[in-house]
Amino acid sequence: MADGLKWPLSSIVYHIYPRSLKDSSSDGIGDLRGIEEKLDYLLELGINAIWISPIYTSPMADFGYDVADYRDIDQMFGKMKDFDNLIKKAHDKGIKLMMDYVPNHTSSQHIWFKEASSSKNNPKRDWYIWADPKADGSAPNNWKSVFGGSAWHLDSKTNQYYLHSFYKDQPDLNWRNSDLEKAMLDVLRFWLDKGVDGFRVDAVDWVYKDPLFRDEPRNPNTLEGKHSEYDHILHTRTFGLKETISVMKKIVKVVKEYENTFIVAEAHLDLQAIIERYVSIGWRWYQPFNFSLINLPWKAEIHKQYIDEYDKALGDLYIPCYVLGNHDQHRVGTRIGVKQARIAAMLQMTLRGLPFIYYGEEIGMTDNHISAEQVQDPYEILSPKLGLGRDPERTPMQWDDSKYAGFSDSKPWLPINPNYTSVNVKSEEKDDKSMLSLYKLLIKLKKTNPVLHEGKYIALPHPADNVLAFMREKGESKILVLLNFDDKTKKISLPFKSAKIICDDTLTDKPGTILDLTDFNLEGNEGYILQI
Ligand code: BGC
Repeated sequence: MADGLKWPLSSIVYHIYPRSLKDSSSDGIGDLRGIEEKLDYLLELGINAIWISPIYTSPMADFGYDVADYRDIDQMFGKMKDFDNLIKKAHDKGIKLMMDYVPNHTSSQHIWFKEASSSKNNPKRDWYIWADPKADGSAPNNWKSVFGGSAWHLDSKTNQYYLHSFYKDQPDLNWRNSDLEKAMLDVLRFWLDKGVDGFRVDAVDWVYKDPLFRDEPRNPNTLEGKHSEYDHILHTRTFGLKETISVMKKIVKVVKEYENTFIVAEAHLDLQAIIERYVSIGWRWYQPFNFSLINLPWKAEIHKQYIDEYDKALGDLYIPCYVLGNHDQHRVGTRIGVKQARIAAMLQMTLRGLPFIYYGEEIGMTDNHISAEQVQDPYEILSPKLGLGRDPERTPMQWDDSKYAGFSDSKPWLPINPNYTSVNVKSEEKDDKSMLSLYKLLIKLKKTNPVLHEGKYIALPHPADNVLAFMREKGESKILVLLNFDDKTKKISLPFKSAKIICDDTLTDKPGTILDLTDFNLEGNEGYILQI
């Protein structure tokens, strides 16, 4: 059984958006051989697990999250033999590989949907969600698609609407049909048999919806022009229904059949609901993502309150899972500023639990401006000018300062951020104070220091306004983390007289130096990891 095995505990997961890591075939789009080429870089960074966003056959209406064949690799990314090579090479280097699992919807090009939409009597009809038009021909109810517009699309051939929680080319699957459920669970087995070490489960909270198709209430707190059409409705009948737990349990049960596996699921939930997920699934190697470091206002007091509560509720039984960025979120440096991005990295790497690093965060990549003509993301196309488009955080990895940043030798699918001439791996490798050097050190600490990967989290009172302090403790060993969320200098008050420097945010202080904490000012944007 997988219970009791330790790999996720000291792991650092690197999230690869495969279109954007490295192009080996000169078509301007990243691919599997490109990932393979960069395994040594990841190893050197200290990564020991990767999660790859979908690489399955797909028409790419939502860049791979519209799967046309769950059991094959899209030719854009390579062939199955490239995948087999990649997993072998990764495993040889001690790197685990997690796939993205998309249970809520397929592509409209999936053979299942082609069959289902061919006639009302097709045996696969019920694998998707269909409803008759209202008497006036309009959509069955007021449900909205996340990306914008109605969640229903009329299939003119059979004169019924099908449901799509996301893009119209992503019809929702019907997990209430037992044949579909079996087919989808078998997909997990297919990849587990190939040796994958786990999955990141996509959009699981959308899987079940009200079978009576009742309308959802209006959201009284949203504003026209400020919030998306989707946010104008409260998703009481299409999101996070009780049955979500049952589908997660079924997925987990399959994954548990295999040794040494791990599963993480998207969970845009409040703290209480996240805790409930852990408890009701009850398997240590299942973790719902915690997006609080992204979603909460960047204030030390707010983060402290959340982290204290979350950590206490999980106790020793469950492992926290903090995310700082991903392919759906603006980059950290853009959200909170490049100086605070260092503080955020120190926070993520010193908290208890499993950190996920989105590619490029380790060199401090920021969002790129995408002009109207360059937009690719259907979210931006359907809900324009609200800052929801995800192209800015998906631009190619910046490897060096050559023409296409070392990503490709052809024009990339999204424009390279012009800051690539200085923000790139090659130049940061030469700079012992760069973001990359900071990440390398933090990852090394997290992996090798037992206090950081196994120690308890000890909450401390605020040493000053907008400054976060906490301790990690294992036996007699104690680490103090001190982070200024502010750009102003703060006079610090702590119950310790002195501490030894392990690392500071700019990597300028000499490790081992004793810091006098009795009369201490923490500068703006400054952070310390200290040995007590
Ligand atoms: C993924 C998105 C995707 C959506 C639909 C998500 O939550 O992270 O990138 O567009 O699911 O699959």
